[in-house]
Amino acid sequence: MNQTEEIKAKLDIVDIISEYIQLKQAGTNFKGLCPFHNEKTPSFMVSREKQIWHCFGCGEGGDAFSFVQKIDSLDFPEALKLLAQKAGVTLKKQDPKIASQKSKLLEITRLSAEYFHKALLDSKEGQIARDYIDKRKLSPSTVDDFKLGYAPDSWDRLLNFLIKKGHTTSDILLAGLIVKNEKGKTYDRFRQRLMFPIFDQNGTIVGFTARVLDDAKANQGGKYINTPQSLIYNKSLVIFGLDKAKKQIKENDLTVIVEGNMDVIASHQAGINNVIASSGTALTLEQLKFLDRYSPNLAIAFDADLAGQAAAERGIETALSIGMNVKIIQMPEEINGQTIKDPDDLLNQGVEHWQKAIDSAISFLDYHFNKQFKTFDKNDPLQKKEIAAKLLKQIAKLNDSVEQEHWLKLLAQKLDVSESVLRENIDQYLERKNTQNNDIKFEDTKLKNREHLLAEQLLALIFKFPENLEYLINHLDLEAINEPSLYNIYKQLILYYNKVNNFDYSEFEKILNNLDSNLVNNSSALLLLADKDFSDFKQADVKKEIINILKQIKKNYISKKIKQVEGLLKQAENNNDKVQIDELTKDFSILTQELNQL
Ligand code: UTP
Ligand code: MN
Repeated sequence: MNQTEEIKAKLDIVDIISEYIQLKQAGTNFKGLCPFHNEKTPSFMVSREKQIWHCFGCGEGGDAFSFVQKIDSLDFPEALKLLAQKAGVTLKKQDPKIASQKSKLLEITRLSAEYFHKALLDSKEGQIARDYIDKRKLSPSTVDDFKLGYAPDSWDRLLNFLIKKGHTTSDILLAGLIVKNEKGKTYDRFRQRLMFPIFDQNGTIVGFTARVLDDAKANQGGKYINTPQSLIYNKSLVIFGLDKAKKQIKENDLTVIVEGNMDVIASHQAGINNVIASSGTALTLEQLKFLDRYSPNLAIAFDADLAGQAAAERGIETALSIGMNVKIIQMPEEINGQTIKDPDDLLNQGVEHWQKAIDSAISFLDYHFNKQFKTFDKNDPLQKKEIAAKLLKQIAKLNDSVEQEHWLKLLAQKLDVSESVLRENIDQYLERKNTQNNDIKFEDTKLKNREHLLAEQLLALIFKFPENLEYLINHLDLEAINEPSLYNIYKQLILYYNKVNNFDYSEFEKILNNLDSNLVNNSSALLLLADKDFSDFKQADVKKEIINILKQIKKNYISKKIKQVEGLLKQAENNNDKVQIDELTKDFSILTQELNQL
């Protein structure tokens, strides 16, 4: 057994995938919503017996390795590392010379985190950072959990440390830990700052965000500076805090989003763990889809400043457009005479204040209703118009028409205008939304066409109820199936049946395996499909369904042939080719007859 096989044998794909999405048992298999495309009804299947997954919506599929590779954007060695860890298998040491570029950068980043962490805990000059940590009331275990660190006040100490460890300047540059100036001189990017490693969702450090220790010096480079986008750090994918929050998010069925990394850390320290940071920018579509896997419910706290609110608004719009539920956390403006700017300030007044703010979060539209009705006077006609415009714009962001209806009714009531007037007005916002959302729908283009889906269902039915195989072979031409892999499977099915006059799936699989292992994958996917769609079918239903699907496939097939004949006929007429015209006209009438008889 090689290491990949050993890992596979020790893991159950159902457990692995359940860490990312909710799976429900369906027959002997499991099904859920596909994490790789937008869908409302589950077409994602997992087989425990075969240890494979397949989505019948977008066509993706494979084993545990391909799943984690795809969902976490890993290359194979990374997936191997991740699953080895889960399986408790120790991987044989890799030769650093052949290590992939990515794993070199990860190693550099890991070493740097160690270096910063040690400098914070032990070094003499680290005292200034230790004082700062005390001032922010961070406990030793928080410093440990988040692996906080200190970047010393030096131009080349980290660089020299990493070079001594055997890494090249160019790799260190690629990891974003040093900067090259115009003269080509390199120096440490992070100097005299408190270092926050950025962990990906699996707890691997992929970059850093670094805070000035002296707020007065924030104008030199900014209060926070971050690792630039790199081969291992993708800003629009990574979510600060998610690795430590994901378990609690699933348990509470709620993600709390705050702006600052310090807010996340303070929350976790206080025992509220389902908190992640937007890190001062708008959460991207990818990030939100990622969060949606753990829970569809978001509660968002934004700082009082306008920049923060604008970013939050954009994130909220994206979240609503993919059908997530958004609540707004409202924070008091002050407590005990202390101004409250963010959750960290609130936590400093006691965790109960923050907990209460989260618990009393209100729906995103209640929030806007309160705000607009407080700001404007609904009895003044011009201001009334303003309220309507502002709120219609928000209502248009909802992705569910029942929900929209609910808020339109409420708005009509509160403004004392007719619902139909509001309805006319909302159209302008809805149209804009539809054009804006084009990028969300792009994945649907990958979806299979109807013909492909029908053929797939037909073969799945036959695999599950093979007593109908003879009927199928007698009623469906091989050529009527267009999609190459299904065509091949059907072809082998005909050859196999003609030879043995019987059907045994595992025997058939062996034949496919000898030809092309991809065919085996496709055909096991068909078995999964059968369980997904036809588990509760009775004998009589099966025959009816087969006849029904056959009819549709034939309809497509014959219509296509008719079109071809029409094309040829036109050519023949142009060439005045009498013989051809005669023959094609005959074909044409036979085909139309066949079509009509269906
Ligand atoms: P804040 O300025 O609210 O910082 O920025 P904070 O998290 O509350 O930090 P403290 O309490 O002052 O220490 C919110 C987030 O915006 C990003 C950071 O991710 C920060 O956590 N940010 C802010 C930057 O990336 N660069 C900056 O210069 C400022
Ligand atoms: Mn803060």
